[in-house]
Amino acid sequence: QLRKPVMVSISFLLSVCRYPLGMSGGQIQDEDISASSQWSESTAARYGRLDFEEGDGAWCPERMVEPDSLKEFLQVDLRSLHFITLVGTQGRHAGGIGNEFAQMYKIKYSRDGSRWISWRNRQGNQVIEGNRNAYDIMLKDLEPPIIARFVRFMPVSDHSMNVCMRVELYGCEWLDGLVSYNAPAGEQMSLEGQPVHFNDSVYDGAVIHSMTEGLGQLTDGMCGLDDFTHSHVYNVWPGYDYVGWTNESFPNGYVEIMFEFDRTRNFTTMKVHCNNMFMQHIKAFRQVVCYFRSEADWEATPLSFSPVVDDVNPSARFITVSLANHMASAMKCHFYFADAWMMFSEITFQSDTAMYNTTLAPPKTASGPPTRDDPTHKIDDSNTRILIGCLVAIIFILVAIIVIILWRQVWQKMLEKASRRMLDDELTASLSLQSETFAYSHNNPSSSSSSSAPSEQESSSTYERIFPLGPDYQEPSRLIRKLPEFSQSSEEMGCLHSVSMKSPYCDGVPHYAEADVVSLQGVTGGNTYAVPALTMDLLSGKDVAVEEFPRKLLTFKEKLGEGQFGEVHLCEAEGMQEFMDEDFSFDISDNQPVLVAVKMLRADANKNARNDFLKEIKIMARLKDPNIIRLLAVCICSDPLCMITEYMENGDLNQFLSRHEAEGQLALISNAPTVSYSNLCYMATQIASGMRYLSSLNFVHRDLATRNCLVGKNYTIKIADFGMSRNLYSGDYYRIQGRAVLPIRWMSWESILLGKFTTASDVWAFGVTLWETLTFCNEQPYSQLTDEQVIENTGEFFRDQKRQVYLPQPVLCPDSVYKIMLNCWRRNTKERPSFQDIHRALLESQA
Ligand SMILES: *[C@@H]1O[C@H](CO)[C@@H](O)[C@H](O)[C@H]1NC(C)=O
Ligand SMILES: *[C@@H]1O[C@H](CO)[C@@H](O)[C@H](O)[C@H]1NC(C)=O
Ligand SMILES: *[C@@H]1O[C@H](CO)[C@@H](O)[C@H](O)[C@H]1NC(C)=O
Ligand SMILES: *[C@@H]1O[C@H](CO)[C@@H](O)[C@H](O)[C@H]1NC(C)=O
Repeated sequence: QLRKPVMVSISFLLSVCRYPLGMSGGQIQDEDISASSQWSESTAARYGRLDFEEGDGAWCPERMVEPDSLKEFLQVDLRSLHFITLVGTQGRHAGGIGNEFAQMYKIKYSRDGSRWISWRNRQGNQVIEGNRNAYDIMLKDLEPPIIARFVRFMPVSDHSMNVCMRVELYGCEWLDGLVSYNAPAGEQMSLEGQPVHFNDSVYDGAVIHSMTEGLGQLTDGMCGLDDFTHSHVYNVWPGYDYVGWTNESFPNGYVEIMFEFDRTRNFTTMKVHCNNMFMQHIKAFRQVVCYFRSEADWEATPLSFSPVVDDVNPSARFITVSLANHMASAMKCHFYFADAWMMFSEITFQSDTAMYNTTLAPPKTASGPPTRDDPTHKIDDSNTRILIGCLVAIIFILVAIIVIILWRQVWQKMLEKASRRMLDDELTASLSLQSETFAYSHNNPSSSSSSSAPSEQESSSTYERIFPLGPDYQEPSRLIRKLPEFSQSSEEMGCLHSVSMKSPYCDGVPHYAEADVVSLQGVTGGNTYAVPALTMDLLSGKDVAVEEFPRKLLTFKEKLGEGQFGEVHLCEAEGMQEFMDEDFSFDISDNQPVLVAVKMLRADANKNARNDFLKEIKIMARLKDPNIIRLLAVCICSDPLCMITEYMENGDLNQFLSRHEAEGQLALISNAPTVSYSNLCYMATQIASGMRYLSSLNFVHRDLATRNCLVGKNYTIKIADFGMSRNLYSGDYYRIQGRAVLPIRWMSWESILLGKFTTASDVWAFGVTLWETLTFCNEQPYSQLTDEQVIENTGEFFRDQKRQVYLPQPVLCPDSVYKIMLNCWRRNTKERPSFQDIHRALLESQA
């Protein structure tokens, strides 16, 4: 059932740079949201946040929107330049009272706050289709993407109507810092009698004889194909992706491009994506000479670089020009012709410490959508030369792909090493940077109280915070500091310092005010459960005492996992029986050591990490379910802080199943231990039951997988969370930009693309976990797809044009159970079953 993998067709930046920028998450401050007018104080601009229900439920302008009038707008100031790839809009629902929405809207944007540019799509249309009802969120890809600091949403209508809007922007910070490029206008080539246009069709500045004050195709994240007459983009003229010039028009032999930046930057490199179809007299440049301006004056000595002129390989490529740490706020480069034509499709800049690793981008050898009807795609059969040319090109592409794949692997290793080193150095960095793994998530208290079903409970987790590109959004401490609890210093926290002086055993976990607590990240293993504020009310009902365990009774056995701020060890504990209350199902004889998992915070962890660790203890202490790992005891009187949780004798479910086989002929021959189908089902049912418990508390797990389930006697299962740094499973996590690691093969489309983690995304992960279980963890999910292809497939789930690839039905899996899986992977989160439903369905499937 698995279709052939789809080629990756968009750039890494375009596919990954899709993080909510903070309208719904709250990182955008109220004062940065403004509007042309407001109908009342309770429909002011600040209520125009997607998914928010405060005030009267949305921003509404004072007047009705009239046809052909563009008076009203909602404006967002992002405080710095951003690369924006996606917008979301929603109307005013206000729990059923409101029914206003914008059926259509336009977007204007500005980089400096004074010059405003109307966004147009690649076909030149400005109008974006908006909402059809007052509650659904409508997401629209921006093609081309926008690079701007200010964005205005302008509702439009073909008749007079009342309009209200809630919006969100998706993207990431624009690290290039490029504000404009000025260049001679692109020219026109005549190819076999047909014109090929190399103009910059999405340039947003002025174009008369030359292009001034704008950005366009050279910064749209879309690299041109090897064959310049073809394009990724549907229904455009030949030469669309490139801006090109002929040496006939430039007697000096070079094209001058001027680049202006937002501020003075310390430049490391410039990467220029060039076409190199030398058979058509197109080559990358022969030499580039760059002049730098930092304050008012141009530096006297330019920098010069001559790449090797390549007349062997016709594929388009990035040429990297080292800018040797020049400080500049503007740059003027002369690109010298190596042949009659020179064509660029993309120019990127790397400066300061921040860097997009665009060179790691997947190859741009996309075959477009199959439905595409491309008149330039005809191949003249009689013309075998072209055919051979194509074959040669394909071979080159394949070679390039192989080289890139190999290179990526080397890179990944290096990045991993580098980031580990970096992490060690950054212990004092802000709490956000704990997200070697996931960021914790936070739920707006007021919005959560109004939402209804538990599956709607959304920990609007924001892995933009772990995305290393946006320093603004890497600062959850900003949010956390607002909360009374976190504003306390750890010195005030019970026994940590003072009490421990007095008594060797402290009286349980320190407790403190628990107003509207956000969830947090596990500081040792990885993420812990996300806990929305609502839940904390439930939790704060009774205090659960967890006792201090004498550290010397722990014997280290092996390391189970590792996070940025600590480690998880497998230990034997003596005398643990005293610490277990009667409802523990351990049936061990007295005084025999028990296997336990010990999460340990490094002694040198910073204050925030310590606070979080104590918080995690509090949360863990209250989770009581037969299918969830229990907290047994803690060591918090002295460093390093530890929490001791259950461990189960058969290890994790992934390893357990890998050692076993299905009952049947094969197993008889190989003599391997077996697990019957009904026991597999029994285990899956227990996972569903544990998740049902977590979801009833509105906890979001975010890393449900067989590797995080433990197996005890008689196929009992308990859900745990060891974090993502276990070497054994490093292949299950995808490293974004060398830092953030995400279990993309288990993640729902909305978690990957929008950073949303909800019970519904846990349900998705459960579907994958169920699939793993029924395939005996023989292979990784989507093992035929590369990480990039998995992300691409995610895009297909998002687009929902029936081109998404599902995991195939396991041999052992009856239709009824496969149907459960498919339901878990529904595009619409509301259509996915709840864990209650899944649990019931699994029980019924065994009956
Ligand atoms: C670029 O050339 C195409 C084809 O001639 C034309 O349709 C389009 O309007 C031009 N765009 C700009 C911005 O000049
Ligand atoms: C630019 O960055 C490099 C490397 O980080 C550093 O060595 C150099 O001193 C910086 N230059 C200036 C002028 O700050
Ligand atoms: C343009 O380049 C071609 C090929 O290198 C060369 O033959 C021609 O003389 C050049 N024309 C000008 C005006 O430099
Ligand atoms: C990109 O790669 C460079 C090495 O060229 C690395 O130092 C840097 O950390 C990477 N950037 C990010 C944002 O991960």
